[in-house]
Amino acid sequence: MSQNNTTDIVKKSTLLQVTKDEIIQSRKLILQLKAPLWRKKKNGQYSIVPADKLDHFLGNRLSSEIQFYMEKDWVNRIREKIKIKKSGSEIQSESQEKLKKQNKASIKPDSEQTFKKHLEIFQKMSLDERENYLNKDIETIDDMIKMNKSLDLDNVKDIVKITTKAFYISKTTLTDNLNDNIQIPKQKINSIIAKTTILIDSMANLIQQEKVSYKDLNYIEDISTGSSTVDHMNKVLLRAIPFGIFYNEYFDKGLIAKIRAEFKNKFYNYYHQLMPYEKNISLQTVFKNGIRRMNALEFRDYALGTLLHDIGKLPDINYHDGSEGYNPRKVISHAPVSYNMIIKSGGFPWGVAVMAALHHEYYGHESGYKVEKVLFRHFKKYSQHQDYKRYFITYAEADIKNGEAFAYFPCKMLEIIDVFDALTDQNRRYRGKDYSIENALELMRKEFIETNLKIDPILFNIFVEFVKEYTVLNDPGKLDTIMI
Ligand SMILES: [Fe+2]
Ligand SMILES: [Fe+2]
Repeated sequence: MSQNNTTDIVKKSTLLQVTKDEIIQSRKLILQLKAPLWRKKKNGQYSIVPADKLDHFLGNRLSSEIQFYMEKDWVNRIREKIKIKKSGSEIQSESQEKLKKQNKASIKPDSEQTFKKHLEIFQKMSLDERENYLNKDIETIDDMIKMNKSLDLDNVKDIVKITTKAFYISKTTLTDNLNDNIQIPKQKINSIIAKTTILIDSMANLIQQEKVSYKDLNYIEDISTGSSTVDHMNKVLLRAIPFGIFYNEYFDKGLIAKIRAEFKNKFYNYYHQLMPYEKNISLQTVFKNGIRRMNALEFRDYALGTLLHDIGKLPDINYHDGSEGYNPRKVISHAPVSYNMIIKSGGFPWGVAVMAALHHEYYGHESGYKVEKVLFRHFKKYSQHQDYKRYFITYAEADIKNGEAFAYFPCKMLEIIDVFDALTDQNRRYRGKDYSIENALELMRKEFIETNLKIDPILFNIFVEFVKEYTVLNDPGKLDTIMI
C-alpha cells in the first residue's frame, strides 16, 4: 500500500492529536501493539509514520512542529494501559505489595481472611439467592454483548468479579451437596449448574465478539481478589476461553495445514520417545482420528472445566494461598478432591469432572499426579492398555476410560495454561523466581517438552502463537525462537 492512499482508509474524524511527549512515554507500547500513528503533512494530508521511522520523527530537530495523530480507539487503549501500569499498586493493595517485597510468607493472613470473608457471604445465602446472583450476572454479560462493549479495564474488572462469584457459588453449592446434614433438592443443584453453564457460555460469546481486544485480558494480571488461588482460577479461565477460540480459528484459517506439513520434521521425535513400540506415529496417532476444532458442546465443557479445575484446593485454601513448604499430599489431593466435588453434583458433564482429575498427568511422566491410574483401573479394558497407549490425545470419553489414549484433549489445553500461570504469577513462587512471559515460555519448552515430554508440543506451538498475537510483550521476536 502506498503512503498516498493510506490516508483513505482512516476517517479523519476518528483521529485525535497526540503530543510528542505522550508518544515518547508510550513509544514501547505503540511499537509492541503496532498502533498506527499518523502525521499531518504541510499540505493537510495525513501520512502514516512507519514503525522503523518513529524514532527518526521523534528525534527530528523539527519534531516539535510535527503534528501527530492516532485513531481514538488506539489512544484510549494506550492511555488505559499506561494508567494501569501506574495504578497497579492501587489495584493490588498497597500493603500486600510491601509485604510481598519484605517477606512473601506474609501474604498468607491477608489472603486467607479475604477468601473466608467472601466465601462466608455465599455460604449464608440460600440456593435461590445464589441462583439470582447468577441470573443477574448473565444479564450483565448479555447487556455487554448487546452494547458491543469493549474489554477495557473496568469491564475486565467486572468480568473478574462475575467469574469470582460464579466460582464461590459453585464451591459453596458443591460443598453443601457433599454435606450429609444439608438436604439439597436435586432440581436446585441442577438449576445452579445450568445457570453457571449459561454464564460461561455468555462469557465465551462476549470474548469471541471482542476478539481484537484479547490483549486487554492482560489486565487480569493486575486485578487481585485477595486470594491467589481464586486469582489463578480467574486467570486460567480468562485465558483458556480466548486460547480455545484461537485454537478453533487455527482450523478456520487453514493454519493447521502447516502443522500437518511439519509433523515429521518438527514433532515426530518428541512423540516417538514416549511410544517407542509404535512404528508409524502420525498426526492420527497423536490426535486420535486427527486433530480437529472443538464443537460448541466441547468448547462449553472445556470452559466450565477450566472454571472448576482447582475447586478442590478450596477445602485446603490455607495451604494453597499460603507459603508453607511443598507438601505433595496436599498438592496432589486437589485433583481427585475437585473431581469428587464435581462428579457428585451429578449435573456437570463427565468431561468437566475429568478436567479437574487429569490436568496434572503430564503424559504419564513421573512428576504427573497419576490420578488416571486410580480412577480407571477398575475398567477391564483400561488395564489392557495402561502401559501401551495407542494414542496421545483423544476427544472421546471412551478412550480415556479404556486407557487407549494418554490424555483427554481439554486437559492438555488446560495443562499448558496452568503451567504458564504458575510460572508468570507474581504471587506464586516457581523456584523462587519471577518469570517474564518470554522466559516462562522458554522454560516450558525446555523443561516440559525437551527434557521430558509433559505438555503437548503441537498445542504448545499454537499457544505460543496465541500469546504472540494477543499479549503485550517486551520481546515479541523471542517467541519465534521458542516455537518448535
Ligand atoms: Fe491444579
Ligand atoms: Fe490450576
